Amino acid sequence: MPGFSTRAIRAASRIPDAPQPPVNVPIYASATFEVADAAELGDLLEFGRPGHSYSRYSNPTHEALEHAIAELEGAEAGLSTASGMAAVHGVMLSILRSGDEVVVPAAVYGGIVGIAQAVLERSGIVTRAVDTTDPDAVAAAIGPRTRLLWLETISNPTTAVADVATLAELAHARDVVVAVDNTFASPALATPLSRGADLVVHSTTKYIGGHSDIIGGIVVGSAERVAAARKIVINAGGNGSPWEAFLALRGLKTLALRMERHSSNALAVATALDGAPGVIGVRYPGLASHPQHQLAAAVLRDGMAGGMLAVELEGGRAHGERFLGTMKVGVHATSLGGVETLVSHPASSSHRQLSDADLGAAGLTPGMLRVSIGLEDADDLVADLTAAAAG
Ligand SMILES: Cc1ncc(COP(=O)(O)O)c(C=O)c1O
Repeated sequence: MPGFSTRAIRAASRIPDAPQPPVNVPIYASATFEVADAAELGDLLEFGRPGHSYSRYSNPTHEALEHAIAELEGAEAGLSTASGMAAVHGVMLSILRSGDEVVVPAAVYGGIVGIAQAVLERSGIVTRAVDTTDPDAVAAAIGPRTRLLWLETISNPTTAVADVATLAELAHARDVVVAVDNTFASPALATPLSRGADLVVHSTTKYIGGHSDIIGGIVVGSAERVAAARKIVINAGGNGSPWEAFLALRGLKTLALRMERHSSNALAVATALDGAPGVIGVRYPGLASHPQHQLAAAVLRDGMAGGMLAVELEGGRAHGERFLGTMKVGVHATSLGGVETLVSHPASSSHRQLSDADLGAAGLTPGMLRVSIGLEDADDLVADLTAAAAG
């Protein structure tokens, strides 16, 4: 009879029969999967047959998330990653190589500026930042070496809305691939592939997870493009954990409900802050004063405009700091898309890579606050944030 340790390891690794399927996708907390022979393992490592070999390559909990978000975004395939930035990296590096160019919005998430400086530049890839709300500017920025146009459905943090259909047509006419970061809208509000995008990425850390308790990302698109991104992610070690994939799946189930409440709360706060004491301006795609309000109404589902606002305070940076110290309901923290209202100061956090001149070019000011409206009671948020602005 084998010794205790041998028996304990075997006994504790026996997979139970579960003829009744569980209501939730199990967390497959297994780094590796047993195979019958070397040929099977070889095939699995090349994705030559269904199944899983090693969790850096694929994992059933991730696969469930990949299928779910691919279905909701109208995509053929998906790839679950360790973070939104791992998804961005996988997409960019699967398309761009030394000598290529990528066109990105001037008003964009600071992580894109970060990857351009820390990764693309040293790989010999040139990044061109333009006002992507102006199709002529995008057309002018696309040159013979441009391979990728990067867009955000709703931009971080200035809430500019991308006309994906127009820009995708323009890009495709020049053989340029279009990738859209759909994090701010979530698949509950927008599906950029249906407007002509080739690839969509999300930071599932945000609305899909929805509770500020995970870091994760996802890529969706055609099987071929997603496989190319997977190759980068596998080799760069950008795979996520099945625990977080489980939480992203759980978040997905309530995403639509949460986006409704985020949107109605954000509209109430944006309306109250617009013209309130201490406030110069509010950018929210749901307000008629927003430059792309009509486009937002056309491309975002059921008139919802999401939970993100940019608020410009009268007193610049000092006023922004006072606001953050005064508010009682909102939480001063980076990130977004959680159940709690999160307020941050992009110039010193998400966009700290940008100089004041670059901030201006991105439509940002040192006194601008990014507000991720949560699911609290709208009246409490309005009272808290208008008082903080007036203070
Ligand atoms: C629009 C957008 N895309 C991507 C990311 C990166 O996501 P993660 O922090 O999960 O890597 C963020 C993070 O703030 C974001 O706001």
